[in-house]
Amino acid sequence: MSSPVGAVVVTGGASGIGAATCRVLAEAGRRVAVLDRNADGAAVVAKEIDGFAIVADVADHQAIDHAIALVAKELGPIQGLVNNAGVGNLKPLEAYTPAEVDLIWRVNVAGTYNCLRSAAPHLRARPGAAVVNLASVSGVRPTRGEAPYSAAKAATIALTRSAALEWAPDVRVNCVSPGFVRTPLNEMLVSEDSAREALEDRTPLKRVGTAEETAGVIAFLLSDAAAYMTGQNLILDGGSMLPSEQMDPALGALLELFS
Ligand code: NAI
Repeated sequence: MSSPVGAVVVTGGASGIGAATCRVLAEAGRRVAVLDRNADGAAVVAKEIDGFAIVADVADHQAIDHAIALVAKELGPIQGLVNNAGVGNLKPLEAYTPAEVDLIWRVNVAGTYNCLRSAAPHLRARPGAAVVNLASVSGVRPTRGEAPYSAAKAATIALTRSAALEWAPDVRVNCVSPGFVRTPLNEMLVSEDSAREALEDRTPLKRVGTAEETAGVIAFLLSDAAAYMTGQNLILDGGSMLPSEQMDPALGALLELFS
């Protein structure tokens, strides 16, 4: 099956999952625009993959209009978009300041919306075009300390479904919800042995995820191998959402009796 060959814009492409996605897509022969607010990081990744670095804040809709137009001029027709730029924080619900809540909302939700809106005419003009948005398991079930982030990622899943419905059959729009992936976003937590071991112990696959395996799922959703999928939210979390805190401790003891 042939796959799209047009340019792909990856937001937040300078680091973590975004950088890994840029590498996987470039290896698959796609022309990649590495969009990030971090100019140095975007330049490093773009140089490595022979891509196009573009500096913009996804929360700034005028900057994104300009960036998308420039990518189309430099790389030709845009056939893919990965809305990956995101920020989070960790504190009790009532301790978040209005400015912190606003930032999480503007980057994760308005940022995704801005890129969808600016890229729409390009994507809708290219058969086989596809979008992948980065949500999170936090958008599916709450994570203690991540209230605004959870709300923003739930909104990202809802926005994915709206775009999928409104843009079908021209553009497929799907969403990826990772569990815990080791990246600079959470390095402080993962590099702490006790915290990482606690996470691994409660994950059925017994490890945290990698940026590369998340990038592989994103690349699959952009490819024609996923040509009949739209509006979906793919969870890759090592099975972490499978255990039930309510049932497992009680049933585990009971099952011991029958083993
Ligand atoms: P990261 O912090 O390593 O990379 C995020 C990139 O986005 C950075 O290069 C940063 O400069 C860029 N960025 C942030 N705000 C921006 C803005 N306003 N405009 C342009 N660029 C901006 O993060 P990571 O871990 O690679 O996360 C990528 C996505 O995956 C995020 O949307 C995150 O919420 C999501 N995710 C990550 C998980 C994890 O465990 N690492 C789990 C679930 C979801």
